[in-house]
Amino acid sequence: MSGSSDWVAEAKCDSPETAVEHDLRFVGKVIVITGAGGQFGREGCVYFAKRGARIAALDKNQEGLQGTFEALNQSLDDGSFDFKAFICDITSAGDTRTVTDAIVERFCRIDLLWNNAGYQGKIATLLEYDPEDFRMVMDINVTGAFIVLQAVAKVMSKRDPDATCCVVNTASVAGMRGTPAMAAYASSKAAIFSLTSVAAKDLAPFKIRVNAVSPALIGPECNSPYFANDPETVAQNKINSVPMKRLGSVEEVLKVVAFLMSDESSYMTGSNLVVDGGMASGVRA
Ligand SMILES: NC(=O)c1ccc[n+]([C@@H]2O[C@H](COP(=O)([O-])OP(=O)(O)OC[C@H]3O[C@@H](n4cnc5c(N)ncnc54)[C@H](O)[C@@H]3O)[C@@H](O)[C@H]2O)c1
Repeated sequence: MSGSSDWVAEAKCDSPETAVEHDLRFVGKVIVITGAGGQFGREGCVYFAKRGARIAALDKNQEGLQGTFEALNQSLDDGSFDFKAFICDITSAGDTRTVTDAIVERFCRIDLLWNNAGYQGKIATLLEYDPEDFRMVMDINVTGAFIVLQAVAKVMSKRDPDATCCVVNTASVAGMRGTPAMAAYASSKAAIFSLTSVAAKDLAPFKIRVNAVSPALIGPECNSPYFANDPETVAQNKINSVPMKRLGSVEEVLKVVAFLMSDESSYMTGSNLVVDGGMASGVRA
């Protein structure tokens, strides 16, 4: 080792925990979350509310939104959150425009969008797949995601030029490789990669960053049809295909979404981050 032998650079502290900073990345930010009545969306509302974000929660399912409101009231039982739920069918451009206007009226602006609503469709091989279900999956996962992205980006593009806005689109590992018996879902999530790339380029001049997150196998509690029958056996079979040999948690997805929403990813746009325990390693969209 080189240097003077009496040179010391050292600090001793009995309570270093006092230096721990709380997560202040989202304090006061207005975030729109679609699919907010579902598993990811509900936990996402709680996650961002706990970090001081102001939340516009969209879903077509009123019961789901009610459950999210109750989850927030339980998690932040001192009422220290700013939240409004909006019933919205994202496949309707008119509905989505009306709701977007209502969000701006309530919150004055939009900083962040988690474009997350989705429908997994049926599990059926290509020969048996119902074309009507294929159409519905595309309508929700692709057209719906586009409609929300466009409506919100129009609001974001009118922000003051110094403000950076962020969008995260929820894609899926299913869209990166041919997941069997999921022709519609896999195709729809593959389309999200292209939508993300195009939006990243079209919206960069407006300081709007657009990235995607691709989760896989996020716990049997997530209503995946893969877990519909005999969930434990199916889950175990699935775990065997994951190098990390476990399912992921919704919080593990949220940490990545939060990274993409924050300044920590300030030089990233048009990217896709995979949250899958290594399952799709070697295959990257
Ligand atoms: N759960 C997983 O393991 C997993 C893995 C990869 C990707 N994803 C994706 O993550 C997202 C959320 O998944 P989840 O597990 O929370 O699913 P979920 O079914 O619990 O939630 C989806 C929500 O989207 C809403 N929605 C559906 N169609 C809508 C429409 N037309 N308008 C408005 N809202 C609509 C539903 O009402 C529901 O509340 C989806 O895009 C899904 O494809 C999930």
